[in-house]
Amino acid sequence: MRVLGIETTCDETAVAVVASRIGGDGGEILSNEVMSQIAQHAAYGGVVPEIAARAHIDVLDRLIARALDVAGTDVAGVDAIAASAGPGLIGGILVGLTAGKALALAADKPFIAVNHLEAHALTGRLTERLDFPYLALLVSGGHTQLVAVQGVGDYRRLGSTVDDAAGEAFDKVAKMLGLPYPGGPQIERVAEEGDPARFDFPRPMFGREGADFSLSGLKTAVRQEIARLGAPTERDVADLAASFQAAIVDVIVDRVRSGLRLFGEQGGHPNGLVIGGGVGANGAIRRALTRLCAETGLRFVSPPPALCSDNGAVVAWAGLERFARGMTDDLTFAARPRWPLDANAGPLHHGKA
Ligand code: KG4
Ligand code: ZN
Repeated sequence: MRVLGIETTCDETAVAVVASRIGGDGGEILSNEVMSQIAQHAAYGGVVPEIAARAHIDVLDRLIARALDVAGTDVAGVDAIAASAGPGLIGGILVGLTAGKALALAADKPFIAVNHLEAHALTGRLTERLDFPYLALLVSGGHTQLVAVQGVGDYRRLGSTVDDAAGEAFDKVAKMLGLPYPGGPQIERVAEEGDPARFDFPRPMFGREGADFSLSGLKTAVRQEIARLGAPTERDVADLAASFQAAIVDVIVDRVRSGLRLFGEQGGHPNGLVIGGGVGANGAIRRALTRLCAETGLRFVSPPPALCSDNGAVVAWAGLERFARGMTDDLTFAARPRWPLDANAGPLHHGKA
């Protein structure tokens, strides 16, 4: 079975073709074309929704053609078309979703509307053989949550951020330090030369019951320290970045530990921990979670960084998982800028899904 996947919820235009393997051993990525818009947004220090939507329109048709070409097939040769239908920036979502529906209609193929968060949550099953249930840590520019993945379409949110997302915290702190957008990789690079123990930044929610996160206090503490220093030297910037990253790593490890406890209390036994979302590319976070899993005897499934950040392969894979279970969607499926994974998630925090 082969599925074409389209991703346009944020600042990456991405298209991929993924095939299922015999025996349920994950998927085979036949092509995975990603066109980043970073250069077009960098001057503004963040993603400009209108620029993003127009940039998706400019390249999407060529990217679809290229993804099919690299996979050695054409639209007639795939079994279904999947596209991210949310959550994310409405203008961008509409571009990918409409293109996906149009292709499905023209080629008379089934269509699958994919929840972008579901795509990150199911990535562990694309790269490895992994059975349900498991714990997923989703950390990106717009989302930070711990989810019990019980089956395809069956998710229970254990906790999420009550204010900033992890990627947002990285990006805002990077901006304060005068580093370019996107800030996450820059902080990680600069932190390598810094002293993580120089500034004792707060670890919000550390030791708290449940699996919620809070990151805005940490960001504020960094801002205050920068103000106190006046004009930070290169050494100061490295130490600030390293100390900030150390704090966020500690928070993430503590929240995952608490999330695992919650998972157990609710009667489940996770078969692993999967990381997804752009922040999942961070080496310090990956190393800390590797240690935590070794300590607790849990399997750590860490997809390669290129499959953590936004891409078409994870959308195609989520489409394939749904298609294999007969879960297809109507062409009237509307874009959902907010779309919580868990139908019973309750009120949204600060407008974040
Ligand atoms: O999942 P993603 O590509 O797009 C969203 O859906 O948001 O995540 C992008 C976020 C940005 O905030 C970026 O700064 C962060 O992921 N990020 C990182 C790293 N690479 C990307 N954060 C920390 N360390 C990294 N190496
Ligand atoms: Zn994402």
